Amino acid sequence: MSTPALSASATTRFLTGITTTGTPHLGNYVGAIRPAVAASRQSGIESFYFLADYHALIKCDEPARIQRSTLEIAATWLAAGLDTDRVFFYRQSDIPEIPELTWLLTCVTGKGVLNRAHAYKASVDKNTAAGNDPDADVTAGLFMYPVLMAADILMFKSHKIPVGRDQIQHIEMARDMASSFNHLYGEHFVLPEAAIEESVATLPGLDGRKMSKSYDNTIPLFAPREQMRKLIMGILTDSRAPGEPKDPEGSALFQLYQAFASADETAALRQAYADGIAWGDAKQMLFERIDREVAPMREKYEAMVSNPAQVETILLAGAAKARELSRPFMGELRHAVGLRNLGAVAQAAAAKAAKTALPTFKQYRESDGKFYFKLVAPGGAVLLQSPAFDSPREPGQLIARLKRQDSAAIAEVTPWWLAADAPAAVIALLAEAE
Ligand code: TRP
Repeated sequence: MSTPALSASATTRFLTGITTTGTPHLGNYVGAIRPAVAASRQSGIESFYFLADYHALIKCDEPARIQRSTLEIAATWLAAGLDTDRVFFYRQSDIPEIPELTWLLTCVTGKGVLNRAHAYKASVDKNTAAGNDPDADVTAGLFMYPVLMAADILMFKSHKIPVGRDQIQHIEMARDMASSFNHLYGEHFVLPEAAIEESVATLPGLDGRKMSKSYDNTIPLFAPREQMRKLIMGILTDSRAPGEPKDPEGSALFQLYQAFASADETAALRQAYADGIAWGDAKQMLFERIDREVAPMREKYEAMVSNPAQVETILLAGAAKARELSRPFMGELRHAVGLRNLGAVAQAAAAKAAKTALPTFKQYRESDGKFYFKLVAPGGAVLLQSPAFDSPREPGQLIARLKRQDSAAIAEVTPWWLAADAPAAVIALLAEAE
């Protein structure tokens, strides 16, 4: 990638953050990681993937867990084939411009808007239902969550944000913050949109409900092989005996298989269900199919997790690349809101004042056929009026000499000043007059 800043207008930018609180499971892989890695290889797309470790602090106060999760998630994305030459892959806390932008956005966000954010409202509703203070155990971090997320998104002028449905409100809030800021300070931000991938399956977990940490029903993507087999053998099925036909509809095992298999392989399992395959055999098929895709990645993953310094180097290189965009953009934003170098402001004001205070020379021909020139003040008052010249060359040359502050020329025009006190200050400005 040569000049990311220049290609911004031609390409669509995708950006998504992964909160660093857990260990990636098969649901994360199928629903987010695999499609993102595939999308990042398409042309005409610029992808930003980052580890949202500031967001992790909102829900987790265990430092070791944050650190471990950051390593595991980074290693997972790299093992899944993310090409860091093509994408921006970084850790949120390595980009100091993100918290800086968070503050600028905080100042254009209505408190009432944040009161209505789903995650905050859910905590308040829970407290109210339990008869507690509405804000009991609610940190300002949870309250500010949407603003930090908007800073993630707006910092890199992202167009599309691939997220789950639960995040749509956050993207809408980021849009609103971007428009408020643009309205106040000029067009600086791109208005982002949520990209909801309808075709990507949500995987069922061990108990048939959506695979999710909160249900404790997950299969870790890089569980050691034997542990993965045991977990798969524990997937909930119905009590149909071997030989009895089985229904793929509503079968968690079937859905999991489908998420990894080709159309032909899926059709074969459907047939096996109809033929009464034993659940144990079906589970073995599922295990082998998943292992076929996961095993090569698991090797890379384990190599990286056992060499954290290498992952650290990759993340720092990613941050350096991202900061080539964020640093100058933050400079632009600081200037837009008035956080400016005072020396530069004074110079700019002086230059501007001087420019508007400059008189102008006007050359013209009258109906008598003669040539004249005058010097006009910025307000329109005539400061100096020449007599008639027979050719246009004479006033032209005289003006040129006046601009050079030629003393003979200044003496020559002295009688033509309309104000008696032919101003030395105006003479000093002649060099710059137009
Ligand atoms: N809030 C997102 C989640 O919980 C994670 C996240 C943080 C994010 N910043 C983001 C997602 C910016 C998309 C864009 O899933």
